[in-house]
Amino acid sequence: MTNGQLFDHIKNTLKNAGKEDADFDAKCIFEDIVGLDMLNLALHRSDEADGVKAENAMKLAEKRAEGYPLQYLLGKWEFYGLNFKVGEGVLIPRPDTETLVDTVVNHFAAKKFYDPQIIDLCSGTGCIAVSLQKTMPKSKLIAVELSSDAMPYLVENIRSNNADVKILKGDVMDGRLLDNFKDEESEGDYRQLDCIVSNPPYLTAEEMSDLQTEVTFEPASALDGGNDGLKFYRVISCLWKEILKDGGLLAFEIGYRQGEDVAEILRKGGYTDVKIIKDLGGNDRVVTGIKQG
Ligand SMILES: C[S@@+](CC[C@H](N)C(=O)[O-])C[C@H]1O[C@@H](n2cnc3c(N)ncnc32)[C@H](O)[C@@H]1O
Repeated sequence: MTNGQLFDHIKNTLKNAGKEDADFDAKCIFEDIVGLDMLNLALHRSDEADGVKAENAMKLAEKRAEGYPLQYLLGKWEFYGLNFKVGEGVLIPRPDTETLVDTVVNHFAAKKFYDPQIIDLCSGTGCIAVSLQKTMPKSKLIAVELSSDAMPYLVENIRSNNADVKILKGDVMDGRLLDNFKDEESEGDYRQLDCIVSNPPYLTAEEMSDLQTEVTFEPASALDGGNDGLKFYRVISCLWKEILKDGGLLAFEIGYRQGEDVAEILRKGGYTDVKIIKDLGGNDRVVTGIKQG
C-alpha cells in the first residue's frame, strides 16, 4: 500500500462513518502515526507505506469511526498555544475555555497587576492553571482536582510546560479543604488570594442522558453538574469566598444557557460588578463577579 492509498483509506473510513471532520481527523492521524505532513504526503504519495505504521493508522481510523475522541487517540491536544497530554480519565480541553483564560488575563492586565495569586478549582488537565501561569509568568497558581484518574495528566502537563503551579488534591465541595489555607499566625483566618477561576462540571441531568458519542468516553465526573447543572456554582461561590480577597475576582466557565442563573447566584452571594461574557461563537460562556470589599 502506498502513502497515498493509506491516506485515502483513512479518510474514507471516517467519511463512510459520517464523521463531519473526516479530512481534518485523517490528516491528524496520518501525520501523527506515519510522520508525514500534507506537503510531504504530496511529495511521497507513491512511496510504499511502512507496514506497521499503516496498520496502526488504520486501527486508529476504525476507532475514530466508532466515535472514540480524536484527542484521546493522539494522546495530546493544544490549548492556548500550549500542548497538553490527554487520555481516558481526563476531560479534553475545549476551545471555549480559552475565553475563561482570556477573561482572567485581561482583568489583571487592565489593572497592571502582574503577580496575582490564583486558584483553579476543578483543574483536570490543568489547561487553565498552566495557561494562566505561562501567560502571566509572575503569577502563582494552585490547581485543585479530586480525580485520581485525572491527576497524572495534571502533574505531567505542569511539568512538561514548566509551569509554576502547585497541586492540591481534594474535593472542592468539602469545606475541610479550606483548612489548607488557614493562616498559621492568626487563628481562624484564611490566606487570601486574588482570583478564583473554575470550569466545574456543569451539565444538567437531562444533558447527561443525551451525550454526543464522543463525550460518552470522557469521565462523567467531569461533566455532571447535578440536576440543574448549577450545584458547583452554588457551593464554590459561597464556600471558597473565604479565601478570596476583598476586590478579588471570581471567574466561572458556564454552559451557554446558564448565564443568567449563574449571574444571579453570584449577585445573591454578595458579589458585585457581575458580568456575563460571550465566547467567540457568540454564546454566553463566562460569568465573573468581584468580592465586595
Ligand atoms: C469540566 S472539567 C474541567 C477540567 C479543566 N479545568 C478544563 O477546563 O478542561 C471539571 C473537572 O472537575 C473535576 N471535579 C469534579 N468534581 C470535583 C470535586 N468535587 N472536587 C474537585 N474536582 C472535581 C473533574 O474531575 C474534572 O477534572
